[in-house]
Amino acid sequence: MLKAIPTVRFSRGRLRIIDQTLLPGRYEVAALGDLDAVCDAIARLRVRGAPAIGVAGAYGLLVAVEEKWGHTGSPMFDSGIDDAGDGSAPKLDMPGAIEADELVATLNRASERIVATRPTAVNLGWAVSRMSAVWRDERDAHAICRRLIAEADAILREDLEMGRAMTTHGASLLSDGDRVLTHCNTGALATGGIGTALGAVFAASASGAKVSVFADETRPLLQGARLTAWECRERGIPVTLLVDGAAASLLSSGDVSCVMVGADRVARNGDTANKVGTLGLALAARRFGVPFYVVAPSSSVDVLSRDGAAIPVEHRAAREVTHMGAEAFAPGDVGAYNPAFDVTPADLITAIVTEKGVHRPPFRFGEGA
Ligand code: MRU
Repeated sequence: MLKAIPTVRFSRGRLRIIDQTLLPGRYEVAALGDLDAVCDAIARLRVRGAPAIGVAGAYGLLVAVEEKWGHTGSPMFDSGIDDAGDGSAPKLDMPGAIEADELVATLNRASERIVATRPTAVNLGWAVSRMSAVWRDERDAHAICRRLIAEADAILREDLEMGRAMTTHGASLLSDGDRVLTHCNTGALATGGIGTALGAVFAASASGAKVSVFADETRPLLQGARLTAWECRERGIPVTLLVDGAAASLLSSGDVSCVMVGADRVARNGDTANKVGTLGLALAARRFGVPFYVVAPSSSVDVLSRDGAAIPVEHRAAREVTHMGAEAFAPGDVGAYNPAFDVTPADLITAIVTEKGVHRPPFRFGEGA
């Protein structure tokens, strides 16, 4: 069975993340104890990938409560889920009385801040809205806190379970000898700890198929070069890196068995937002007759978005394009077009894999799918 890695966990009042801005050079776990640090970590992609930021957002709300009412050395909340993803009951140790109104006001403010950090991945809004249902339904501060830690743990546990099911379905599309082209990072680092598209490749390999990966470097933040290449190496999967601009010629060469990518938001009709560059891959894959698969959990499906036109696309700072770290390689005053995501129309997608199975077109999510 595919092993989880502890991309995002919560223990003793703190959100613990593998700091993805440091990989592959350094593997470091950061413990975040205040809301500013949580929002900054999501915005700066210290924790990233749609499912992972959903989990981080849910636990981020607990951090906001802990910051206001917890005491160092004696945290209020403790998750029951360990690094391997195995679970027991979460713990709550409330200090004296907390006013329910003040608690709810704190949670509402924290929710707004967390959801605003990254607009495209629907998992973030989905997880925060699951958490907010708790304080809509409850009027007692103790009951709210008890249910909040249980709900955040449930979100992580479900993410791990969806990952297991989805990667098994995704692996069923792969055969021995397949060479899979992927974009960005959709491995364990992008989720609670199993992965989506890259997880499917790992699951195929774990079941004995000899599969290999072509990884787009994924400009400008290099999630492919830094994270996908690192995860493939860790799991012993052969990986070949390419610059994003080489993907079309690679697809034309006949060397790619299929393209497999993740999703930040899938609309009801199957239009899919994912890391910028995905649309170009889908177009080239169609032109050269290569199957194009999306692997994503139901938490990335937004039944409120009728189609891709309804999906908000995050635009990021020009500096990410003009600089590499602190180093500028473009003239200082040049502008940059830097959307973090693009939207691939459903008619370019061969299949969308969720934890429920392999969905073929026409896609009609929200109608029992
Ligand atoms: O900006 P990022 O690194 O958060 O973008 C991540 C992606 O685009 C992934 O492909 C997507 O979240 C799916 S990951 C399971």
